[in-house]
Amino acid sequence: MAKRPLILAVDVGTTKVSALVGEARSDGELTVLGIAATPVAGMRRGLVYEVERVALAIRDAVNRANSMAGTDLKEAAVAVNGDHLAVLEGQARIGLKTGTVREEDVEHATHKAAQVAHDTDRETVQVIRRGLAVDGFRGVVDPVGMVAHQLDAEVLVVTGVATVLKNLKRVVTMAGLHPILWVPAPRASADGVLADDEKQIGVVHLDVGGGTTGVTVHRGGHIQYLGVVPLGGESITSDLSVGLGVVSTQAERLKLEYAAVGAERDGTLEVRAVSGQSVKLIAVKELEEIVEARVDEWASMVEQHLSRIEWPKGPAAGVVMTGGGSLLKGLPSYLENRWGWPVRLGVPIGLGGLSDLSRSPGYSVAVGVARAAKSLGFRPQSESWIQRLLQFWMTLWN
Ligand SMILES: Nc1ncnc2c1ncn2[C@@H]1O[C@H](COP(=O)(O)OP(=O)(O)OP(=O)(O)O)[C@@H](O)[C@H]1O
Ligand SMILES: [Mg+2]
Repeated sequence: MAKRPLILAVDVGTTKVSALVGEARSDGELTVLGIAATPVAGMRRGLVYEVERVALAIRDAVNRANSMAGTDLKEAAVAVNGDHLAVLEGQARIGLKTGTVREEDVEHATHKAAQVAHDTDRETVQVIRRGLAVDGFRGVVDPVGMVAHQLDAEVLVVTGVATVLKNLKRVVTMAGLHPILWVPAPRASADGVLADDEKQIGVVHLDVGGGTTGVTVHRGGHIQYLGVVPLGGESITSDLSVGLGVVSTQAERLKLEYAAVGAERDGTLEVRAVSGQSVKLIAVKELEEIVEARVDEWASMVEQHLSRIEWPKGPAAGVVMTGGGSLLKGLPSYLENRWGWPVRLGVPIGLGGLSDLSRSPGYSVAVGVARAAKSLGFRPQSESWIQRLLQFWMTLWN
């Protein structure tokens, strides 16, 4: 009997580890069988700082997702995050001896295009195919079977700092998992929530997490840019803590309940002072000024990434945000005013099963990682997809 096409996806975020067990359906959708998130300490700005604490959180999230699904999966597709991620462009052309494009020709051209030189302290995380051309005709989606002399492939090669990647691999392995695929978190998040027509006409995706913001740009159906800003919602909490003289749990609560950008409210809030005895009065205006200063800095850092893309009219489908940080009140309209593009919150799409749980924007990375595992190497009913993935896509870190 063929094995069920099951996938375990893991996102080791700065504030929480998410794990998802999914089944690839023959109609291309993903059925979520188990999903869990465990708060994590020991991560900073998407990077591992305390190996044991992070490994414990991974183990806990994966155990809970597995038990919900009634599975015991150990082979995992894992998101890679952090501002060390960088992209390089690669192209290659191959001649077609048989006069017809075969699947192995597509793989060969892609593999050749991915041979771009990068610094010796960096490793390839993922090769993303951006486009194929047959005898110079670009934009061919599935050229297998076409009669042609030449095949061109264009790729984006996502690289990361080798030591950072090794630490991530170490915690995942310590948690008892076998990593079989690595997916850049910003790309995974975009794939978790964006529709094909948005990717076609042009869209910016921001995954606003606790310590990072993933930035991707899609246009013409393909990813054009990927970057990570080392700033997320945690910095607002720490600014409020320092600026208002409250402990960080109070600062976090103030942020979730009262903080907003562009609200311009008056009045005061009562909070308990650090000692827990006396009551402290906080001017809402002061709280808003602290939030707004950090959001302004964050938006400027995102703009530095977006300025690397040429688009005279901006992204036709606007900006789609995910991640807990995107839930800051007033953020979409603040950005609409600042950038002049429509901004909306994204939710994971194309899901069956436990989709109510998995539609939270905080699960977009885990959903996208599962989808990447499914679409990169996975064929339903095939038992050899793991070997195919390993052979072709795993360039990593032995
Ligand atoms: N309603 C809300 N309003 C404002 N901020 C929120 C809200 N809900 C969650 N957040 C913030 O979202 C952040 C966590 O987001 P998320 O879970 O996407 O991060 P992460 O994946 O752990 O981190 P990263 O992606 O940076 O590695 C926290 O800073 C949290 O305070
Ligand atoms: Mg995240």
